[in-house]
Amino acid sequence: MKTKLCFATNNAHKLEEIQAILGDSFELLSLKDIHCSEELPETGDTLEANSLQKAQYLYDHYQVNCFADDSGLEVHALGGEPGVDSAHYAGPQRSHADNVNLLLKNLSDKNDRSAQFRTVITLIQNGKISQFEGIIKGQIITDLRGSAGFGYDPIFVPEGYTATFAEMSLTEKGKISHRARAFGKLVAFLD
Ligand code: IMP
Repeated sequence: MKTKLCFATNNAHKLEEIQAILGDSFELLSLKDIHCSEELPETGDTLEANSLQKAQYLYDHYQVNCFADDSGLEVHALGGEPGVDSAHYAGPQRSHADNVNLLLKNLSDKNDRSAQFRTVITLIQNGKISQFEGIIKGQIITDLRGSAGFGYDPIFVPEGYTATFAEMSLTEKGKISHRARAFGKLVAFLD
């Protein structure tokens, strides 16, 4: 029998990608599949707290085994900011361009431009909580480069590379990204 597991997303692409890795023994359910249409709570001040909050909400309200992810960009010279606030760094309108511009402005007088993208996934299976972390380290450049990807991709060059995330193909980014690394650990655990 297939093990049902809800992934706290309605992004069909994300769901398909993880379903393909997990194979036939798991049936991934989206939020829509479990008839969850409300916004999941995300009021924590760390990625760990937010992904746990989302997974716990689903587990408590929908009685499903589930997992939720949360990601952010952590910039060393800014004490880890924008971190958990990455999506709305420049304000509640959640504009990627505004966020990128504010980050470049805040970094303009700093020599240390090191940063990392980090993802935390929280899995809850029969009440048991497990967390998985994925990190990719790199540098924030001074100007935007590339048009692929989203968010902070045009200003992030991963360690060991010269291209920004926005200059890489989805496949290339998908091999090294914070998200890929965290999901790799989740899949290894579930297998
Ligand atoms: P989420 O938790 O995956 O929704 O990510 C929250 C925010 O972090 C996004 O809105 C982006 O601003 C930023 N972020 C997370 N992952 C990436 C990435 O792979 N590239 C660029 N920005 C990202």
